[in-house]
Amino acid sequence: MNIILLGPPGAGKGTQASRLVEERGMVQLSTGDMLRAAVKAGTPVGLQAKAVMEAGELVSDAIVSALIGERLDAAEAHGGAIFDGYPRTKAQAQALDLLLDERGEKLDLVIELDVDEDALVDRITGRFTCAACGEGYHDRYKLPRVQDTCDACGGHEFKRRPDDNEETVRTRMAEYRAKTAPILPIYEARGLVRRVDGMAPIGEVGAVIDALLDG
Ligand code: AP5
Repeated sequence: MNIILLGPPGAGKGTQASRLVEERGMVQLSTGDMLRAAVKAGTPVGLQAKAVMEAGELVSDAIVSALIGERLDAAEAHGGAIFDGYPRTKAQAQALDLLLDERGEKLDLVIELDVDEDALVDRITGRFTCAACGEGYHDRYKLPRVQDTCDACGGHEFKRRPDDNEETVRTRMAEYRAKTAPILPIYEARGLVRRVDGMAPIGEVGAVIDALLDG
C-alpha cells in the first residue's frame, strides 16, 4: 500500500508516519528527514539544501524527487510506503506518478490532515526529539514519561530543529498554501483524498487513519 500524508508543517505527518512504521512495518519516506541527514553529513545535496531549509522555503523538485526515487525500491520490499512531506508541488506529484508507474505501483490513498494553522505554530515551537533515536516529543502535548529520559531508548540528550522558530514556520506555512495545497485537487479528481481532523488528540488521529487503511 502506498499512501501520502499531506498537511502543513506541524500537522502531525511525522508523528503518524512513525506509528505506522512501528505498527505496520511500512516504510516512511520523509524528504525532510532525508534532507536533514544530507545537511548533517555535509553531502553536496545537504550543502545546497541547508540555507533553503533554514529559510523555510522549498528545496528544488529535482533534488527531492531523486531522493525519493533512490529509496522507493526498499519501500516496496517492505509492503508499502508512507510519503511524508512529499510531494509538495505539482511537479513533484507528476514525478511521483512516474516513479510509481515505472515500478508497476500506484497510490492507494492521500490522507489530508486538516488543521488550524494558528495552533500549529504552538505545536512546532514546542517540538523536540531525542538526539540518539529521534523519538518525537512536545513541551506540553507529549513529554517523556520520566523527565529528561527518552521513552524509546533511555537517552538523555534532546534537540530542536533550526527551522522550528516562529518566523520560519510562517514562511513554511505560506509555502504550503502557495505550492502544496494546489496538488490536492489533482488527487481529489482521482478519488484518493480522505480528510482527517488533525486537531484531535494523537491517538484519535491514529485510529481514524487505521480505519481508513483497513477499510
Ligand atoms: P519537513 O521535515 O517535511 O517539515 P514540515 O512539512 O514542515 O513538517 P514537520 O516535520 O514540521 O511537521 P509534521 O507534520 O511532521 O508534524 P509532527 O508530526 O512532527 O520539511 C522541512 C523542510 O525541508 C521544508 O521546509 C523544506 O525546506 C524541505 N523539504 C522537505 N521536503 C521537501 C519537498 N518534498 N520539497 C521541497 N522541500 C522539501 O508534529 C509536530 C508536533 O506536534 C510534534 O511535537 C508532535 O508531538 C505534535 N503533535 C502531532 N500531532 C498532534 C496532535 N494530533 N495533537 C497535539 N500535538 C500533536
